[in-house]
Amino acid sequence: MNSAMQCSWKAVILLALLSIAIQYTAIRTFTAKPFQMCPVTVSNPLNCGMLWQDAVDLSGDQRICDDFLYFTSNVSRKSHVLILATTRSGSSFVGQLFNQHQDVFYLFEPLYHVQTTLLPRLSHSRTAGDTRVMLGASRDLLRSLYNCDLYFLESYIKPQPANHSTDKLFRRGASKALCSLPVCDAFSPGELNIDEGECVRRCGGLNMTLASDACRERHHVAIKTVRIPEVSDLRALVEDPRLNLKVIQLVRDPRGILASRIETFRDTYRLWRIWRATGRRPYNLDLTQLTMVCEDFLGSVTTGLSRPPWLKGRYMLVRYEDLARNPLQKTKEIYEYLGLIMDKNVGDWIQNNTRGSNDLSAKHKYGTVRDSAANAESWRLKLSYDMVDYTQTVCQQVLQELGYKTVSSPEELKNLSLTLIEDKTFLPFL
Ligand SMILES: *[C@@H]1O[C@H](CO)[C@@H](O)[C@H](O)[C@H]1NC(C)=O
Ligand SMILES: *[C@@H]1O[C@H](CO)[C@@H](O)[C@H](O)[C@H]1NC(C)=O
Ligand SMILES: *[C@@H]1O[C@H](CO)[C@@H](O)[C@H](O)[C@H]1NC(C)=O
Ligand SMILES: *[C@@H]1O[C@H](CO)[C@@H](O)[C@H](O)[C@H]1NC(C)=O
Ligand SMILES: *[C@@H]1O[C@H](CO)[C@@H](O)[C@H](O)[C@H]1NC(C)=O
Repeated sequence: MNSAMQCSWKAVILLALLSIAIQYTAIRTFTAKPFQMCPVTVSNPLNCGMLWQDAVDLSGDQRICDDFLYFTSNVSRKSHVLILATTRSGSSFVGQLFNQHQDVFYLFEPLYHVQTTLLPRLSHSRTAGDTRVMLGASRDLLRSLYNCDLYFLESYIKPQPANHSTDKLFRRGASKALCSLPVCDAFSPGELNIDEGECVRRCGGLNMTLASDACRERHHVAIKTVRIPEVSDLRALVEDPRLNLKVIQLVRDPRGILASRIETFRDTYRLWRIWRATGRRPYNLDLTQLTMVCEDFLGSVTTGLSRPPWLKGRYMLVRYEDLARNPLQKTKEIYEYLGLIMDKNVGDWIQNNTRGSNDLSAKHKYGTVRDSAANAESWRLKLSYDMVDYTQTVCQQVLQELGYKTVSSPEELKNLSLTLIEDKTFLPFL
């Protein structure tokens, strides 16, 4: 009772401050077009007793009240999650940790469409101008998607969808919500493991109206992307109180990323294979394929770990190797940080796809864990010492920041009883 009263007067003050903040954000961020307000689902914003179920397991009443007030009014009470990753860093696996959740609307790499539309010639070297345009468009799209406006995505899909229906959404089948009711009625409601290809074959065109509805029905939206270079590129979104956005940054040992890319993207990384096979580094090797990973990681991690106020409560750094070593425990930590309750599906999925929380020798279809399954350090057998040595030079600082040890001889490299992963705890920024 007492705390409810306390909440009421605080609420009045905070709401007043908040509306100023919102106006400010609106003016600063949305000069071009009016912003659609999120639907407010709380009938009485001052009733602090009516708690947001997801926040229940956070610390103490006061914390809950403050959070509650902060996100009431015209502010989204939904939690929104962005998985900030790079290719072959384990992002599909992390995406699944959200995709499997019943109350999460998950999208796999929607920014693919922005890139293919704005930069159709897939260029690996990016110019500052390209990056700026891509990022601006990406942020606008993300903002719309977090508000469940999927129509906005249509302007980037080719051919442009007619009647809000398309069969060209990138990796539609990777999103459980887009393969089940009400969006698709091809599978029985209890079906848990819908195959991605099966979804695309049997669900027919994607009705964007229904997809938007499905998004609105869920409390959280999670989006995975490898197309945002650094966390600071997301600042405008993170600072927007209506979005309540939290960033999970996934990092991985760049040597592991390199080894995995060389195996996966055989054409693009052809010269790296030549280097490995011949022992000689091709003169025309595209080094940005490596340096960009390390620069982006370093930029993000430096920002994240310096704990700027705008990231408070909104940034968690996750090492892929830690997730691979202990998926269930790490996933719990992630959910706890987000203030969400991890539902049974997620735990079951982890059990099924990693065979237990620790045993990673299981074979399963998610590449990320399949890699780690054999050994999170299997890259050591796939790269030559020269390549590793080179990577260590280029990425020295980021390796150190993230707690990955370097090797100084081919023997050390191949001696797997010598782990290169330091036990390092990255406390989430609360
Ligand atoms: C919330 O939004 C509604 C309609 O968009 C508006 O009438 C109301 O004044 C807003 N409330 C606050 C506290 O900003
Ligand atoms: C879109 O809907 C209109 C009206 O229902 C119909 O005439 C048209 O053929 C549809 N277009 C496509 C591409 O399905
Ligand atoms: C998409 O779903 C909406 C809502 O059920 C429906 O009105 C519309 O006709 C559907 N669009 C297509 C192209 O089937
Ligand atoms: C896990 O595996 C069991 C047994 O194969 C299956 O019945 C269940 O649906 C699976 N659950 C998930 C979430 O994948
Ligand atoms: C591998 O490393 C372990 C641990 O440092 C060491 O005891 C062992 O002698 C090394 N093996 C070889 C073949 O160098």
